[in-house]
Amino acid sequence: MHFFMDPSRISLRPFKLSDVDDFLKWAGDEKVTRYMRRNPITSREEAAEHIAKVAIAHPWHRSICLDDRSIGYISVRQLSGDDRCRGNMGYAIAAEYWGQGITTIAVKMALSSVFQDFPDLVRLEVFVLEENKGSQRVVEKVGFLKEGKYNFLTGQNSIHRHRNCLVV
Ligand SMILES: CC(C)(COP(=O)(O)OP(=O)(O)OC[C@H]1O[C@@H](n2cnc3c(N)ncnc32)[C@H](O)[C@@H]1OP(=O)(O)O)[C@@H](O)C(=O)NCCC(=O)NCCS
Repeated sequence: MHFFMDPSRISLRPFKLSDVDDFLKWAGDEKVTRYMRRNPITSREEAAEHIAKVAIAHPWHRSICLDDRSIGYISVRQLSGDDRCRGNMGYAIAAEYWGQGITTIAVKMALSSVFQDFPDLVRLEVFVLEENKGSQRVVEKVGFLKEGKYNFLTGQNSIHRHRNCLVV
C-alpha cells in the first residue's frame, strides 16, 4: 500500500552549512551512493567541504526538504558550448524516505523552474543504472522517455556499467 506524501511538505532550497548532519545521513549511506557516481562521504568535515565547494558553489543544486529539513538533493548541470541546450539531472534522498513519492514531487518542482533558470536549455537528461528501477520509474512518471543505453566507466576500478538515458 502507498503512503502519499502531502506535496506542501516538500520544498527545494539552496543548501546551508547547517545541513551538514542531515546531509551526512544519506551521503554517507552506501545504499544511496551505490547508484551515484561517487563514493560515500564518511566524515562531518568531508560533508561540510562538499556542501561548501560542490552544493553551494553549484549553479543549480538544491536541497530536497521535508518540512524544511534537508533529506536529499536534486541538481541540474547545463553542458557548455554547442551542447548548452542540454542539461543533466541528478537526485537522491535518504533511504528512510524512499517509496513515499517525495522524489517524484521534487523532480516536478525542478522541471517547473529549470527551463526558465537556464533559457538555452531544451533537453534534460538523466542517466540511470539499468538495475536502478526506482529512479527510472521516478522520471518516467513525470514524462521522461527512454532514449537509449550508454556504457560508462565508473568507480576506482573503472568498471563498465550500463546506464539508460531518459530525456524530457
Ligand atoms: C531513486 C530514488 C531517488 C527514488 O526516490 P523515491 O522518493 O523513493 O521515489 P518515488 O517514491 O517518488 O518513486 C519511486 C517509484 O519507483 C518504484 N520503485 C521503487 N523500487 C522499484 C523497483 N525495484 N522496481 C520497480 N519499481 C520500483 C516505486 O514503486 C515508485 O513508483 P510508483 O509510484 O509507480 O509506485 C531513491 O531511491 C534514491 O535516492 N536512490 C539512491 C540514489 C539514486 O539512485 N539516485 C538516482 C541516480 S540516477
